Amino acid sequence: MTTFPKNFLWGTATAAYQVEGAVAEDGRGPSIWDTFSHTPGLVANGDAGDVACDHYHRLEEDLDILARLGVGAYRFSISWPRVRPGGRGPVNRPGLDFYSRLVDGLLARDIAPVATLYHWDLPQELEDAGGWPHRDTALRFAEYAGLMGEAIGDRVHTWITLNEPWCSAYLGYASGVHAPARSEPAAALAAVHHLNLGHGLAVQALRAVVAPTARMSVTLNLHHVRGVSEADADVVRKADGLSNRAFLGPMLEGAYPRDLIADTASVTDWSFVLDGDEATANQPLDVLGVNYYNPTLVRRWEGDGSRETADGHQDGAGSPWIACEDVEFVRQPGPYTEMGWNIDESGLTELLLRLHRDYPDTPTMITENGAAFDDVLGGDGRIRDERRVDYLHRHLTAVAEAIAGGADVRGYFVWSLMDNFEWAHGYAKRFGIVHVDRDTMERTWKDSAHWYHDVVSTGSLPV
Ligand code: NOJ
Repeated sequence: MTTFPKNFLWGTATAAYQVEGAVAEDGRGPSIWDTFSHTPGLVANGDAGDVACDHYHRLEEDLDILARLGVGAYRFSISWPRVRPGGRGPVNRPGLDFYSRLVDGLLARDIAPVATLYHWDLPQELEDAGGWPHRDTALRFAEYAGLMGEAIGDRVHTWITLNEPWCSAYLGYASGVHAPARSEPAAALAAVHHLNLGHGLAVQALRAVVAPTARMSVTLNLHHVRGVSEADADVVRKADGLSNRAFLGPMLEGAYPRDLIADTASVTDWSFVLDGDEATANQPLDVLGVNYYNPTLVRRWEGDGSRETADGHQDGAGSPWIACEDVEFVRQPGPYTEMGWNIDESGLTELLLRLHRDYPDTPTMITENGAAFDDVLGGDGRIRDERRVDYLHRHLTAVAEAIAGGADVRGYFVWSLMDNFEWAHGYAKRFGIVHVDRDTMERTWKDSAHWYHDVVSTGSLPV
């Protein structure tokens, strides 16, 4: 039997735009995702987050589901345009009240609130003023962090500044498959920097006002990059620099890696990095959040002309991999999830051990892990999602192996509590352990939810 440490934090995760709906209610302003999903052709089936899971109106019901699941923590995100519609200027009281009720509802059920400040829904007005490539966005982000710290900072257990800044920068501004759908490599690298800077400024702003016991964190979707052969070491290094060390460097070490600056020299001179920025990004963190779905496989591209990328992590025309003309992303052997992502939990163990080696004083926490499958509601009302149970079981075993190997892993959050708006894929991809009927909004526990209930109640994996 695999047993986890006593104080291990068990949870589930969601994000505001993916579950809340109520996009034009109680004073919420538009975000870049409202604009994106209402632009014809950008989201599968023309889906949008207007209703999503109607979580905004079903808060109590969803809190009760969490309580029945028995989780010790819940990771949610705050919609910036709900609490400050223009990203600057007046604050929206009803928006703040919603998150205050959410936090109180969690605490009343003995569930620790883990709040993400930025899960991709930038106020549209800030994008119109330049977005993340623009330094001012980082400053506005810090103001917003301070504002939330003052509103609910006495009650939040862990603060996560950013969710997957890799996606915000590269999918939003390089490949354009995410909002705001721009394909400008130099702007994407400027976005990387202003996200790093915004993170550091936000931690400072939070620390000044929140409870001294509150933990500070950031969630990165680190890529566990492997080469096809040893001869590919240099392209592994390059992909690792762009996807991992571009964030780990400033945030955990206070400097951008030199090889990253050199690799991207044809795209930018990084003159947007001002004196002191890297030190600002480098704030002490209590725990590093890691989202893991699958590893990345690369080899040196020897052909000429254009080629498809095959890391399964994007499906648009452009590539998020800036200055990687010599890198080929190799399709990995299956099995695959419904996203086309291969299932390989060994990457998670290796990634956690690497982080422990590189940053021994920073504990980690899996802030997302999970899988989309085509779930079928049986005639008996049951959803037998055994592939999801198997996926979760494998990955939790991988976490346990990393812990046995010395990694200080503090918690695990399933993505996701319920089926929701999977960004450019719309509602077609179901990641939930709770099924959501798109017509009635009815919530139904899948087998994986029952399984997870047993795991979190015993703190161990069934044999
Ligand atoms: C990463 C993101 O944080 C989340 O919003 C998304 O739904 C999942 N991964 C699955 O793609």
